[in-house]
Amino acid sequence: MHPPRPSAPHKSGLRVADLSSQRGRHVATPWGDYALYLVDGAPVCVQAFCPHMDGPLFEGTVAGGTVVCPWHLWRYDLCNGKRVDAAGLLDRRVLERLVVDMAADGELVLRPPTR
Ligand code: FES
Repeated sequence: MHPPRPSAPHKSGLRVADLSSQRGRHVATPWGDYALYLVDGAPVCVQAFCPHMDGPLFEGTVAGGTVVCPWHLWRYDLCNGKRVDAAGLLDRRVLERLVVDMAADGELVLRPPTR
């Protein structure tokens, strides 16, 4: 039996101005390793390591709202988490996401999605 996952929001220590549309920013959270990206000006948070073989997805190339894993070049849509490279169109794995909120002081706050 797994212990309950913490549900209190996690302060990332980052603001939108700290993010780039060119690369991810690794964030350690109570739910594991995630990465923050900037997609069309909005912050997006997905798992930091690749669902394939745990490659450092957060170090991947970011372009057009997608990130490419540096190990085997699987490409994921950052907005829906789905694999979008031609070889993986039937792959049903989806990147885990966290919801990103902005605190009154501008700090990005993360929390698990409600199911
Ligand atoms: S570990 Fe990311 S594509 Fe293989």
